[in-house]
Amino acid sequence: MTKQKIRKLSGTLRIIGDKSISHRSLILSSICVGKTEITNLLESEDVFNTINILRDLGIQIKKKNNKWVVLGRGTNSFIQPKNVLDCGNSGTTARLMLGAVSTNPIYCTFVGDKSLSNRPMRRVTDHLEKIGCKINLTNKEHLPLTIKGSEINLPLVHKMSKPSAQIKSAIILSALNTEGKTTIIEPEKTRDHTELLLKYLKVKFEIRKTKHKGRKLIFNGPYEIKSKNIHVPGDPSSAAFILVGALITPNSKIKLLDVSLNKTRISYLSILKKMGGKIMIKKTKTRSGEQLGTITASTSSLKGVTIPANLAPYLIDEYPILSIAASQAKGVTYMQGLDELKHKESNRIKSIIEMLKSFGIKTKTKNNSIKIYGSPTKSVNCKKPIKVYSDHRIALSASILGIISNNSVKLDDEGKSMATSYPSFKKDLKKILMD
Ligand code: S3P
Repeated sequence: MTKQKIRKLSGTLRIIGDKSISHRSLILSSICVGKTEITNLLESEDVFNTINILRDLGIQIKKKNNKWVVLGRGTNSFIQPKNVLDCGNSGTTARLMLGAVSTNPIYCTFVGDKSLSNRPMRRVTDHLEKIGCKINLTNKEHLPLTIKGSEINLPLVHKMSKPSAQIKSAIILSALNTEGKTTIIEPEKTRDHTELLLKYLKVKFEIRKTKHKGRKLIFNGPYEIKSKNIHVPGDPSSAAFILVGALITPNSKIKLLDVSLNKTRISYLSILKKMGGKIMIKKTKTRSGEQLGTITASTSSLKGVTIPANLAPYLIDEYPILSIAASQAKGVTYMQGLDELKHKESNRIKSIIEMLKSFGIKTKTKNNSIKIYGSPTKSVNCKKPIKVYSDHRIALSASILGIISNNSVKLDDEGKSMATSYPSFKKDLKKILMD
């Protein structure tokens, strides 16, 4: 291992397109009628999986002068695919595309990589079976699965068992092509990009608040949706890596432009501020229904905090990078209610703990919670390659801690998994790493 000189992070970056909104803009423009031009689409492996599947289903998608052009043909226009539909590592592709094909009279086989083939699918397929689909899962839970779209789709009331934007969006996509009233009850508000894009596309549906923190979405289909060009904002989850990098690296200051400030996605900024992070947020404009803004972060003395379970749906993708911030904070950070982390690209309770252990950071885990014993004064060392379990967010998080490590940090997948959500990470980091 070579001894590494610690450099600072400094400068301004325009962050890459949001992953969740990229999937949704492709899927929704495919079921609109007409041509959509999408700007700032995230060109990552996960998003290419969605593009390839939509093409297999007969949709023309081309890149022209930095814009992605989609020729949509309506909510009932998918053709019988000749190939299996390969979702790769992408849970969003699998779950949203299941909803999108569920009301088309076609027969599809969905497959995924090793990680995705271990992730639960019943949470979506149970709802789609009720509306009339015939679905066969491996081991009653997993991919590969086959789905035969229903001929007559039943308009139903769907009560979601857990807060999940993927489950909600799958049911919404089926409701758009279902005749009659479909009601979706979510126990807590989850990321609302699908709803915001549908409003931007002038789709008429109702949103009502329920008791506690839940919501009821009421659709009256089928819909014919006219296409409109879509701009994808910067990804706040990708921004989180760079921002935490700036907080924990001496003499650093970073400004990120055009990041989505969607409230369901930026709770991690409140947590970092509570930890003492010097972060400034400025709203700029609204594009395609989403609020955009500038976020600035600079070197800070962080302190440990308790993150209660009720925030988990709003921080779900940020626990790996929050664990890095916690490792450099004074005192203990206590993350509670992490059950859903076990079902992500890796078992993230396990992979976060192993990652921190490789850097010599003490942790404890009990009942789906993690305690991180932060130690900002201790020098960061990592002697062996970090096991990232092919999980992009673990690889990205470990690389951020690597900036302040005394050794040059190696990842067991050499950073390949970063292509899932942030293929330009190393290039971006090079732009802002200064002597
Ligand atoms: C996503 C929703 C979240 C998130 C995932 C992307 C989406 O998953 O973890 O990275 O685009 O809808 P859940 O719906 O399982 O919470």
